[in-house]
Amino acid sequence: MHTSFNHFLRENNIDNDTRSLLYHIARAVKYINFSIRAGNTGTLVNQNCYGEYQMELDLISDQIISKELEQSELAKIIVSEERDKEEEFPAPRGDFFVAYDPLDGSSLVDTNLAIGSIFGIWRKSNKIIGNKAGDDMVAAAYAVYGPRVTFVIAIKNKGVHEFELNEVGEFVLVRTKIIIKPETKYFAPGNLKVCIENNHYKSLINHWINNGQKLRYSGGMVPDLNHILSKKEGIFTYPSDKEHPFGKLRLLFECAPFALIFQEADGLATNELGEEILDLEVNNFQQKSSIFIGSKKEVMYALEKYKL
Ligand code: F6P
Repeated sequence: MHTSFNHFLRENNIDNDTRSLLYHIARAVKYINFSIRAGNTGTLVNQNCYGEYQMELDLISDQIISKELEQSELAKIIVSEERDKEEEFPAPRGDFFVAYDPLDGSSLVDTNLAIGSIFGIWRKSNKIIGNKAGDDMVAAAYAVYGPRVTFVIAIKNKGVHEFELNEVGEFVLVRTKIIIKPETKYFAPGNLKVCIENNHYKSLINHWINNGQKLRYSGGMVPDLNHILSKKEGIFTYPSDKEHPFGKLRLLFECAPFALIFQEADGLATNELGEEILDLEVNNFQQKSSIFIGSKKEVMYALEKYKL
């Protein structure tokens, strides 16, 4: 007998509001998957056969999610990777803050590699700026649109769980309480051009090569981090460079949600200075951060080598 997403949340005593919000997010993921399968390659704003303009897939995904969040009546403020400004909803039933990247790695859509959506959920909408990224964060989730569609959630102090979309459009539990090992044979090194300006990064990469570790890097943060959670080991790095002194990846839409997920899976997520991502103070919604994330001991080793 399979366990459905809703049944799992109820059985694990997830409070009604968080459960309802996650339910709406899971529904958005199904609609986004439908849009992807409908054949939109998302690379251009195309004209279809009727002469109408089609929207890019990342914008469609953004609208699907914001509509679901509004309908939840629980999300008061939302911020999206696709928008410059936050949006406020009436939210008669709650006061959640939701940050999301509707289609991370959307430049990969035309290559037919896996892409994904990322979500971070905070309990109080007015407590984000000036507080640590992890304060009041109650849950995080991501979806992978690959050959299979999977939805992974982390609920604070309640672990990381993976669901898969079945043939009748229902998310069913495939793995529960995912834990990753402290050491690893896999590495996913982002922003390799840093090797030109920083010998420490170069020697870290050389260490992994000389150690016989396996490269697993697609260029999409979601599938790359999902690889680590699936294999239960690995490290992903994306340091800053001269042009991007705070790195490229966004704190609220990308780094913090994954930091909560990896923390719940016994992993570690820091910036390149070794500060935990969830301890970073949020100064603005578009803030960026460097990131070292994955198997705990490997992240600590990489930081030591990088900071030398
Ligand atoms: O933030 C978007 C993103 O595509 C991530 O999914 C990915 O990890 C990263 O950028 C890749 O960056 P680059 O294009 O520098 O390899």
